[in-house]
Formats: sequence, C-alpha cells, structure tokens
Amino acid sequence: MIKIEPILTFRKVLILSALLMIGSSLTMAQPGRETKSGMKQLIDEQFSFAAKQYKVLAKTVPANVMPRYYDPKKNKLVTSSTKWWCSGFFPGTLLYIYEYTKDTGILNEAKNRLAILEKEKHFKGNHDLGFMMFCSFGNAYRILKNPAYKNTLDTSAASLATRYRPSIKAIQSWDSDESLACPVIIDNMMNLELLSWVSDHGGNPRYREIAVTHANTTITNHFRPDYSSYHVIDYDLKTGKVLKKVTAQGASDSSAWSRGQGWGLYGYTMMYRFTKDKHYLNQAKNIARFILSNPNMPADMIPYWDFNAPGIPNVPRDASSGALMASALLELGQYAGKAEQKTYVAAAEKMLRSLSSDAYRARLGENGGFLLMHSTGSFPVKSEVDVPLTYADYYFLEALSRYKKWYL
Ligand code: GLY
Repeated sequence: MIKIEPILTFRKVLILSALLMIGSSLTMAQPGRETKSGMKQLIDEQFSFAAKQYKVLAKTVPANVMPRYYDPKKNKLVTSSTKWWCSGFFPGTLLYIYEYTKDTGILNEAKNRLAILEKEKHFKGNHDLGFMMFCSFGNAYRILKNPAYKNTLDTSAASLATRYRPSIKAIQSWDSDESLACPVIIDNMMNLELLSWVSDHGGNPRYREIAVTHANTTITNHFRPDYSSYHVIDYDLKTGKVLKKVTAQGASDSSAWSRGQGWGLYGYTMMYRFTKDKHYLNQAKNIARFILSNPNMPADMIPYWDFNAPGIPNVPRDASSGALMASALLELGQYAGKAEQKTYVAAAEKMLRSLSSDAYRARLGENGGFLLMHSTGSFPVKSEVDVPLTYADYYFLEALSRYKKWYL
C-alpha cells in the first residue's frame, strides 16, 4: 500500500525536483513522441475538415464537369471539362478522404465523378493522361479493387504510350505549334507512374520501358548543374536534337519554377519506387537538396511561385508546390538513410503544419469549398494567381496520408 505523506521535507523537495528535471530532459531528448501525437491530431483534424468542406464544394459543381479553381475576388467557382489536365484530382481527393474517414457520401461523389471521367481513357491530345487517370482511377483501384478501374488504367496507359517518340527517346507533352516543334515538359515525369504501374500489374512491359527511357532522357536534358530543372525542352523530331530550353510557366527560361522542381522531385522518387535504380534515387536527393537549401525558400517552407521570381518576398506563394514537395519528400524519406530521412520528414512536416495553419487552410464554407488557399497556376499569363487549386488539395491530403502510413 502506498503511504501518502502530507508534507514534503525540504530534502525530499530537492530530490523530487532533480527527478523532474531528469524526466523532462529525457522528454526533450525524444521530440519524436510529442511530434507524433501532434501530427496524428493534425491529420485527423484535416481529414475530418476535408470531408465537410468537400461536401460544400461538391454541391456547387455541376454533374458533368470538374472543379478547377475558385476566384476569391469574384466569389466564383471555375469548372473544367474532363479533358483538362486536372480532371483526376477531384475524384482522387474524394478517394483520399473516403479512405481516411469511410464517409459513404464522399465515396458516392467520387464514383459519380469517376463515371464522367472514364471516357478520357481514349484521350491522346497531350501527355496529361497520367495525372488525369492515375490520380483518380489509380486510387480508386487501390482502395476499392474494382477490376473495371484496372481496365480503365490499362487503356489509359495504351493511349499515353501513343505519344512516345522514339527519335527523341521521350513522350511528347504538347502538340507542336508555331513556337515549339516537339515540347517535353518536366511535369511529364508524373505521367510515368501510370505507365510503370500498368506494366507492373500485368500490362504491356513496353510502357515501363517507355517510362524508363523518358526518365533517362529527362535527366540528360532537363537538369542544370545545380539540379534545378528547365520547364520545357523543345526537340527536333527528325534528328532527336534539343532545339531550345525554355519556360512556359516560370519567371524566365533560366529560373526554377517551383512546381516544376516539385514535379521532378516526385517523379524521380516515384521512378526509384518502381525500378530501384540508384540513379533515380540520387537524382531525387539532389533535387531535394536544391529545394531545401534554396536561399529563397521562405521560413514557412511554402515556396514562392518561382524560386527566382523577381520581387521576392513580395510575390505570390504556390501552396500546390508545398503540398507536392511534402508528399514527395515523405516518400523519399522511405528510401533514405536515417539522417537524410530525418531531414526530409522534418521539412515535409514543416510544410504540412504551415498548410494546415490559418495562413493557408480555409475555413469551413469559405474558399469555394476548397481546402487550401494561395496557389499559383500560371503567373506569366496571369492565370490562377493566388487561388485555391484542385491539385494543391490532392497532394496535401496525399502527403498527410503518407505521413500517417509511414511515420506515425
Ligand atoms: N502540369 C501543369 C502545371 O503544373 O501547372
């Protein structure tokens, strides 16, 4: 039986204080535990909020289109047809929310949106099929295991593969126009996930070969010595030679457009997942170093729209880049040694905490029903500047799911 002493002697107070000090220094030596419980709560809160907020968004989107962005100045939701490169993100985000919350209203909404998107499996008009179909049907098959979704992925990969050009050893991103002969953009790395996944799941092995060849060509031509990347490489289809290295969405041809750096980081980390080729892992680590050591990375770790944007710090941020980078860094942490993993996870955690704060995370019923504020689509053409964007929400929830799956 424990005997409770009513009064502590001075000597006992001293001993107790010393024990308390040792105890608290031990807790300080293990910041992981406190961080973990804090992150669990943060992730739970974000998903429970997302389920409510996406019901607000879903109500405002007509049945035959997808949400694209919300213009806060005009209080106007802008939608897109299912041919827009972002058409997979709304169903994909709904699926992440369903996976976490098991909210069947959200699942029904996701299924309805998949149904209107499915026909795009035949689309061959640009390279974006990976974004459109893997972020949607890839998650749908992963979570729901419906074989019809796998068939959709197979057909989508076949459509995307038609854009492979052997003479340049890459997938052509956009069709040629008066200024570009055969453009390939860094974003295209993201579409390799669809090709690699389908080959790995009983599909045509040629898709994976295309993905690997494209990734190798991109290492050769898209990157600068500091591992930042050009946005657009224009090729000569006859000779396979590089004609020019330019930008469409960055501040200048030689600048580091933030989302492009994120696409590269995510792309090479993902290609390492499929191939276990160290070349890709090293590429991803070098890109991560460029991003994380960049003197223009703000203290809250949510990048300006371009790392070299004129006028920094008085320029818009791009929350979508922060979300995308966080998700990629968490996967890269899975393939890194202890010290590097710590760096990547700490950076991702900082990004996710910033995005979850009032500075970026909208309030219920506001922001047109989107989760995150302050993304930038294309600054040079003054399109989607400082607005919510579907893919910012998608990669934000993907990153939170990954944190929970791998680090809690
Ligand atoms: N893939 C187009 C963009 O990142 O804006």
